[in-house]
Amino acid sequence: MTRPLLLIDTDPGVDDALAILMAHAHADVAALTVAAGNVGLEHTVRNARKLVELLNVATPVHPGCPSPLVRAPEEDAAFVHGTDGFGDVGYPEPRPQASAEHAALALIRMTHEKPGELTLVALGPLTNLALAVRLDPSLPSRVKRLVIMGGAVTGHGNTGKIPAEFNIGFDPEAAHVVFEAFPMFDLVDWEATVRHAFPDEVYESWSAHGDERATFFHAIFGTARLFNAEHERAGFIAADALAMAVAVDPSIVTRAETRHVAIELDGRLTRGATVVDWHGRLGGKPNARIVLDVDQARFGELIAQALGVPA
Ligand code: BDR
Ligand code: CA
Repeated sequence: MTRPLLLIDTDPGVDDALAILMAHAHADVAALTVAAGNVGLEHTVRNARKLVELLNVATPVHPGCPSPLVRAPEEDAAFVHGTDGFGDVGYPEPRPQASAEHAALALIRMTHEKPGELTLVALGPLTNLALAVRLDPSLPSRVKRLVIMGGAVTGHGNTGKIPAEFNIGFDPEAAHVVFEAFPMFDLVDWEATVRHAFPDEVYESWSAHGDERATFFHAIFGTARLFNAEHERAGFIAADALAMAVAVDPSIVTRAETRHVAIELDGRLTRGATVVDWHGRLGGKPNARIVLDVDQARFGELIAQALGVPA
């Protein structure tokens, strides 16, 4: 497996945290660009800085947009991830500082500095990436690969608007801009996440045998774990970790379908839905490789290594 160079746009968030641990274990990380999403920007930036401190790395953290492009969000995900996005464990102020450069400008600059080299991994609402694309429409041509965690391709989402998934539902206009701008991207949707849950005992074993990364993750995971248990979300579900696995090891994908995917912007009950032209009848050029299945054992290995579990 060659080590990709990743630029991660994220809204940490507990599953973002696991994905960022995986990225640093299995890839080179150029930067974290941070959006509001799971919780407000002040928390998501602080959480990104905390991860940089935990990992003892020099990965730059670029704060981005504090709100969606057009409409105010209907809800955040503090009820899953905790008020501060990291389970409200009260960790001390992290030492690493955030960059003064805005996330959208950092995305543009870094894709100019390393044209064709960066794999973008989008783990949150697509606000920063959409803004960058509007500022510089040529950005997609300089990106090696884009992997997006987002969508609910058959409509079994996880928001109040039933067919919508959180990252897309939080900022549908941004998702629309990105889905139209990139000729092809990998889409890891919520439903794939649920299909690729791990039994609780597997997570408990990682947690028991890992190093300080596992200890930290276990602490911040408490709120989300309780929420999942109380809402019939069986097993260990980690949406952003699945997208990161696809980003660091593309060979993990065992089943995928390439289709045109559009974002519903206006629906009274369906705003934020990812509408897949499964039968190719609407004439849109396919833009998404929809990841349907991955090698679950390999996915587990990638997580375990990132938590410091001995082989
Ligand atoms: C996505 O929404 C967020 O709560 C998670 O961090 C993940 O990116 C799952 O729908
Ligand atoms: Ca996220």
